[in-house]
Amino acid sequence: MKDVISVGLLGLGTVGSGVVHLIDNHQDKLKHQVGCNVKITKILVSQLEKKRDVQTNGSRLTINPDDILEDSEIDVVIEVMGGIESAREHVLKALRNHKHVVTANKDLMALHGKELLQAAAENGCDLFYEASVAAGIPILRSLTEGLSSDRITKMMGIVNGTTNYILTKMSQEGRGYDEVLKEAQELGFAEADPTSDVEGLDAARKIAILGTLGFSMHIDLDDVSVSGISSVTAEDLEYCRQLGYTMKLVGIASRTEDKAEVSVEPVLLPDAHPLASVHNEFNAIYVYGEAVGETMFYGPGAGKLPTATAVVSDLVEVLKNMRLDVNGNSAVIPQFVKKLKTEDEVFAKYFLRIHAKDKPGTFAALTTLFSELEISLEKILQLPLKNSGLAEIIIVTHKAAKSDYKNVLRQLDLLEEVVDVKSSYRVEGDER
Ligand code: NDP
Ligand code: HSE
Repeated sequence: MKDVISVGLLGLGTVGSGVVHLIDNHQDKLKHQVGCNVKITKILVSQLEKKRDVQTNGSRLTINPDDILEDSEIDVVIEVMGGIESAREHVLKALRNHKHVVTANKDLMALHGKELLQAAAENGCDLFYEASVAAGIPILRSLTEGLSSDRITKMMGIVNGTTNYILTKMSQEGRGYDEVLKEAQELGFAEADPTSDVEGLDAARKIAILGTLGFSMHIDLDDVSVSGISSVTAEDLEYCRQLGYTMKLVGIASRTEDKAEVSVEPVLLPDAHPLASVHNEFNAIYVYGEAVGETMFYGPGAGKLPTATAVVSDLVEVLKNMRLDVNGNSAVIPQFVKKLKTEDEVFAKYFLRIHAKDKPGTFAALTTLFSELEISLEKILQLPLKNSGLAEIIIVTHKAAKSDYKNVLRQLDLLEEVVDVKSSYRVEGDER
């Protein structure tokens, strides 16, 4: 092994500058761990003239990716530039040129992970992506190494800091959605286009990666049923509070026998559930294994140094593998052929908020409908809506098949007594 390992960095933004900082500050520790010095020799940026608040200590900045990807002195490429198509091309080129790759890019891995991991294996290279899910929480290695002896049956993840921040501030401080979203953008958690945060796509990419590793079957992004938080209202959060629930945007991956279900949606959790106390921009992943039972991994899911920690830990893994000459085994071939549950195989409780006519027979019409469709009711709350002739009715069902529940929603729309179905959310974690 060389005395100094040369690293090429693609990107010098939030995460890239954190990586430069950690590598510079941890040289002694790195040398102790991997037996050599580590130097970032070249860094790809898009604007050479941009003012930067990071000391690059002699690394050369370039706008030409081939300065890094074709440099035979560079052994490892760290991709922290983001985006999908250019990042994919650069990572593929790096692997084909026999360079190991570390990336923080969940968009890239959720969409092209299979292709890239195959290219890594074919070229005898490592490709690690710990930072792509929940940044500072070492969840991917926990699934593939720490829990490798167990059979994981359920994962529930708060894996998007922006939406957790918004729901926390709306619930705890009664503030409006738009105002808190703006604050999350200013604090730097949100993506450049926050639509992917608030509509659940960012979390969907992360739960697809978690599902693939946790269940050892290839979960595509299209397999994830996704809904976000942009239509959540202050009234919804207030009724959740009154019923002892906390709302979180949760990525759920669960399996029974050999079939999986993967979704991202706003979920009501009992206040006592471990995920309910994960607030602000923090992330957490609740993992249930048949042997281990309940576990939870908690920490910062974004930010310069937390994300850089995961990236540099991946780099350490690559360098340890180089020392042992065992690179090229990072692609874990899925053990199972993917089988997904149909909607009549997915069971959950549901919270429903309805505006209905405040007159005799309304309650009977509602309960008759639920009973005809064989959905049992666990909680019902009715309150008059002042001077409107309407009542606010909150229902929490017992567990029902998703297909039956969707049928109830369709039938409610047709009931003469029902004016509007205001909101509907899945309830999880009550069975603990
Ligand atoms: P930034 O936007 O802060 O930085 C991107 C960097 O890449 C910039 O230095 C930019 O150059 C450079 N860059 C972008 N596109 C190109 C291009 N086509 N050619 C050359 N250089 C380019 O992004 P982040 O650091 O926030 O994120 C990087 C990656 O890490 C993303 O994949 C993101 O999803 C992931 N990630 C980020 C987290 C976070 O907390 N920020 C958390 C977990 C993962 P220039 O500086 O000249 O503009
Ligand atoms: N926008 C993401 C979030 C950043 O809010 O969690 C980390 O992936």
